[in-house]
Amino acid sequence: MATTKIKRIGVLTSGGDCAGLNAVIRAVTYRAIMKYGWEVYGIIDGTEGLALRPLRWKKLGISDFFAPFARLGGTMLGTINRGDPFAWQMPDGTVKNLTKDFKDGVKELELDALVVIGGDGSMRIVGKLCKEAGVPMVGIPKTIDKDTPLTEHSVGFSTALDICVEALDRLQTTAASHHRVMILEVMGRDAGHLALHSAIAGGAEICLIPEIPYTFQGIMDKLEERRLQGAGYTLIVVAEGVKTLEGKNASVSSKAGENIRYGGIGHYLSNMINEKDDFNSRFTVLGHVQRGGIPSSWDRITATGFGVHAVDLVAEGKSERMVAWIGGKVTDVSMEDVAKVGTAKVNTQGEMLSIALKMGMYVGEI
Ligand code: F6P
Repeated sequence: MATTKIKRIGVLTSGGDCAGLNAVIRAVTYRAIMKYGWEVYGIIDGTEGLALRPLRWKKLGISDFFAPFARLGGTMLGTINRGDPFAWQMPDGTVKNLTKDFKDGVKELELDALVVIGGDGSMRIVGKLCKEAGVPMVGIPKTIDKDTPLTEHSVGFSTALDICVEALDRLQTTAASHHRVMILEVMGRDAGHLALHSAIAGGAEICLIPEIPYTFQGIMDKLEERRLQGAGYTLIVVAEGVKTLEGKNASVSSKAGENIRYGGIGHYLSNMINEKDDFNSRFTVLGHVQRGGIPSSWDRITATGFGVHAVDLVAEGKSERMVAWIGGKVTDVSMEDVAKVGTAKVNTQGEMLSIALKMGMYVGEI
């Protein structure tokens, strides 16, 4: 193990929140204090806490985790998923590169390294920011979308999946009672992992994901097959990023500096199905419900394994690494490789799709 002169590290959450973030912050704090005797500064609202003025941070100690809220979803440090630190919109309308402000913030707080908990976008953007500012950094993957590459697990996905499956369990009873086609729209702007996992676990017969094109005829054929099987209902899961038959996002809105907000594909499909005499459809958009709640046991385990490993990497003097779960082990990969892959999409030759297809699920024209 390399000997480093670390005295103080910063930890921040970046991008959309999810369940399990507080468990990561806890693991980072415990390991840093109890094993290495370092100080831990929690940076408020992601990179904003270091790049904007006044600096926003909070010294973390073991006792910060005595309160029950530290076991809940969300992030005790706050987070942001908007704005580009390399072209930041200032209140006076000008655009500023915040790299130097960020670097100065790190220097002012005397942080020797940063642990960044974020998704694929944060790994790319905050990774670049740290590199350009010369700040040693280790990343921890979190995302309900499961789209951060080179890791088999990310914090937050397991809880979101449980929420989607619970929704399907609830929808199944009302679908069966009313003989309806129930559509559940779940998150997943570029990748359909959450939709596909939910559809398998929740017993849906149709699952549409951004990676695979579909036809309305394909959907109707499956509904008809269900009818002939004597099933009075059908469950459909659709990822929010699935496009309409015309190749557009069903309903999209955005504000300057914010990510595009998706939503509406469930409504769109439901309307089309309702136009057919034989079928009666309703839709549910699960939205941000998927990001909240108490983290599942698995998300807490992943969070803890990732948090302690990230601190050990910092202690070894490593930087530009992302912790990862590979083959049953907590390990790490290079941030450069993560950035090269970008977004981890559903593998159309992979195991999950194979399971879905073997169950006769309609997943589009594959
Ligand atoms: O990236 C995670 C995610 O949950 C996406 O699936 C979704 O499109 C997005 O965040 C929603 O973000 P916001 O909180 O900005 O509406």
